[in-house]
Amino acid sequence: MPEERLEGGIANAGKVFRVGPHVLRPSCAHSDSIHAFLRALRRAGFAGAPWPVGIHEDGRERLEFIEGDVPLAPYPEWSQSDTALASIAELLRALHDAARGFDPRGHTWSDALAGPAGGTLVCHNDVEPSNVVFRDGVAVALIDFEFAAPGRPAYDLAQLARLCVPIEDDFDQDRIGWRPADRPARLRLVADAYGLGRDGRTELLAAMDAALDRIENAARSSLVAGDPDTIAMLERTGGIEKYDRRRRWWAHHHDRFAAALR
Ligand SMILES: Nc1ncnc2c1ncn2[C@@H]1O[C@H](COP(=O)(O)OP(=O)(O)OP(=O)(O)O)[C@@H](O)[C@H]1O
Ligand SMILES: [Mg+2]
Repeated sequence: MPEERLEGGIANAGKVFRVGPHVLRPSCAHSDSIHAFLRALRRAGFAGAPWPVGIHEDGRERLEFIEGDVPLAPYPEWSQSDTALASIAELLRALHDAARGFDPRGHTWSDALAGPAGGTLVCHNDVEPSNVVFRDGVAVALIDFEFAAPGRPAYDLAQLARLCVPIEDDFDQDRIGWRPADRPARLRLVADAYGLGRDGRTELLAAMDAALDRIENAARSSLVAGDPDTIAMLERTGGIEKYDRRRRWWAHHHDRFAAALR
């Protein structure tokens, strides 16, 4: 069957292919663990993640292709709707509920985006619009599980909020094509759609502080270490200064986000 190249990946740009009902993409050191997790999700009744078909000798993994639309930056208007955002948060809640029966011990996981406070529930950790399959503007599946790792659900939700509300200075929102919106109201929508109670909302806000620090510190240390992927990523995404802008913007609006969660 012919291989059709799929557009969109950054990390795996040009290396992701559709072959009939499947996707072939580079595997990673943790693919066996990720496949065990994806199988457990499906067995727990969660259909919002690809079924892992297997890992090839050529180093590629084969996954179920999920029909739908995956938005790419600059994100189209439909993918920025409140309906889309709420549906992503609902989908992550369903994933977390299905993940509860899975024991991550005895497996290996990526440290790259894992929550700093540890935890025992396997989380996706990279829920941004380009890692979501939509149908009619509603999220139906999450893809791109290579950063999955045991953590706390609040941290996974904080990453979702950071990437999908999103938490970004006005200049960078505009630069990556986000239209003006009431961001604190969008954070409340995330909390409501996920089904957070009062304690969960306090935890979410703290996890967002932690996530923003973690991502900034990781980028700075990789830059100091001269990591070529980080240098390339920063060249494409506005340089290391964007972390200063984001931190200032978050500090300036923090009270409004906190109020929206009350
Ligand atoms: N299981 C799948 N079902 C449907 N489409 C998929 C699937 N996996 C990947 N795709 C498509 O292929 C594109 C690139 O895949 P993917 O996001 O895995 O690449 P990546 O380089 O790992 O991404 P990232 O830059 O987010 O790390 C996606 O944007 C999506 O359109
Ligand atoms: Mg992706």
